[in-house]
Amino acid sequence: MKLIFALAAAASMCLLPAQAAKEVFAHYIVGNSADFSVADWEEDIQLAQDVSIDAFVLNVGSQDTNNAASLPKVFEAANNKNFKLFFSFDYAAMGPWPKDQVIALMKQFGSDPAYFAEPETGKPFVSTFEGPGNAGDWPTIKAATNCFFVPDWTSLPPADAASAAGGVADGLFSFIAWPNGDANMTTDSDKLFQTVLQPEQKKYMMPVSPWFYTALPGLSFPKNWLWRGDSLWDLRWQQVVEVQPDFVEILTWNDFGESHYIGPVRKTPAKQLLSAGGAPVDYVTNNPHDGWRKHLAFYISQYKNGGGSAAASAAAVGNSSVRVPVNAAAAAPVVKEESAVVYYRTNPATACGTGGTLGNNADFGQSETAPENLVQDNVFFTALLNSPADVAVTIGGKAQTSAFTKTPAGGGAGTYEGNVGFAGNVGDVVVTVTRKGTPVVEVKGGPPISKNCAVENWNAVAISAP
Ligand SMILES: *[C@@H]1O[C@H](CO)[C@@H](O)[C@H](O)[C@H]1NC(C)=O
Ligand SMILES: *[C@@H]1O[C@H](CO)[C@@H](O)[C@H](O)[C@H]1NC(C)=O
Repeated sequence: MKLIFALAAAASMCLLPAQAAKEVFAHYIVGNSADFSVADWEEDIQLAQDVSIDAFVLNVGSQDTNNAASLPKVFEAANNKNFKLFFSFDYAAMGPWPKDQVIALMKQFGSDPAYFAEPETGKPFVSTFEGPGNAGDWPTIKAATNCFFVPDWTSLPPADAASAAGGVADGLFSFIAWPNGDANMTTDSDKLFQTVLQPEQKKYMMPVSPWFYTALPGLSFPKNWLWRGDSLWDLRWQQVVEVQPDFVEILTWNDFGESHYIGPVRKTPAKQLLSAGGAPVDYVTNNPHDGWRKHLAFYISQYKNGGGSAAASAAAVGNSSVRVPVNAAAAAPVVKEESAVVYYRTNPATACGTGGTLGNNADFGQSETAPENLVQDNVFFTALLNSPADVAVTIGGKAQTSAFTKTPAGGGAGTYEGNVGFAGNVGDVVVTVTRKGTPVVEVKGGPPISKNCAVENWNAVAISAP
C-alpha cells in the first residue's frame, strides 16, 4: 500500500463551537469477520454498546466476495440490538469501487432501519478509505442515493480533499491518528481539517487510535512498520474533548493486522490474517487490547458533554441514557466504579530481532528509523478515580518506583496517569492502586514481559480491572 498522507502543517486559530450532533464510531473490517454468525456479530455489537459506541463503520473491500454473505448478517444483528452501521468503501485494499456497485449497495442497505443517518439531514452516512482518484464518481452516487458523504482522502492535502470534484464531500475524515517519530500526537492536523471545512460548515470526523504495528511482508502490498502508541490512547481522547469534532471514528475495532483493534481477538480470523501475510511472529493471539475499552464510556461522555466537568462526565458513565448538560458542574462527582487500565509491550525493544520492522514509513513522507527509537520500554497505566490515590507497580515481583504524574485539575474525579520503565526486569506486570493503604483496584494477569523471543513483537497488550 503506497499512500502518501499529506501531513498537515501547524495551524493555530480560533474555531467556532462544534455542532450539537456528536457521535462516536468504530472502524470495522468486514473482511476479518467472514466466518461470523449473526450471534457473533451481536456479541461484538453488545461490547460496543457497553462502551457507548454509536455505530460500526463497515469497511468493505471492492471485490470481497464475502460481502454478499456477511452484510445481511451484520444488518440482522444490528436490527436485533438496535445498533447502527454505515459503510466505508475501501478503495485501497482491493482497488477502486465501481460506482454502480456503490449505488447498488446503498440501494440495498441505505434505508435499512439499522443504517446510520446523519443526525441533521437524516441522510444515509457514507465514508471511504481513500479513493480520491474516484472523487468524480461521487456527484453521481450522491444523486442516486442521497447519501451524506464524509470520505477519508487523507492522501490529499485537506484543502484539496474539501474541494475535490466540485466540493462533493459533505465533510472529511482524517486518517492522521498516529504521531511522526518519537513525539506525542498533536491536534495540528485536526485543526487544519477544521479550518478548511469550517467556511462551508462541512463536518470533521476525527480519528482516534491506540496503537499501530504491522508486520505482513507477504501481502501483495507488503507492510512492516511501527508508529508510536506510547501515551496515545488517553492523550488522544483528551484531544477529542479539546477539538470537539462533529464525529469521532476509532481506528479500529478489529484490524488485527495493524494492531489497532480495541475489540476482542477472534483467534481464527487473526491467525488466518497473520499466516496469509507471512507475519514473522504472532503479534495478535496473545495480545489482548480489551483494556482500552475500559475507560471509553467516560471519554465519550466527556466529549459529548463538551469537555465540561469531568465529574459530570464521570457521573454519567454506566448510564448512556443520561446526557449531563455542559453546565452540570454540580452533578455528584462520583465515578460509579473506580478502575484501571495497563498497557505495555511484552518484549524489551532490543531483546530480539526487529523482524524487519521499521519505525515510521517513508511512504508517508517520514524519516525511517529503528523501531526502538520510537517506543519506550514502559508500563503505562491510567486509573479512573474519584480522588487521588497511590499506585504501585511490580515487574516479575520487583517493585518499581511509580506515581501518577498526570492528574485531573483540582484532584477530583477523572483519569490519573503515569508510566514506569521496565528497568531490565522481566516477568508478570502487576499494577495496584491504593488509597490510604486500602486497595482500590489491582490490574494483573496479562502476558509477562519476556526476553525469550526470536523476533520482536512490537504490539502492546492492554488489560484492565475490575
Ligand atoms: C507524551 O504525553 C505524556 C502525557 O500524556 C507525557 O507523560 C509524556 O512525557 C509525553 N511524551 C513526549 C515524548 O512528549
Ligand atoms: C439511567 O438513567 C435513567 C434516568 O435517570 C433511568 O431512568 C434509568 O433507569 C437508568 N438506567 C440504568 C441502566 O441505570
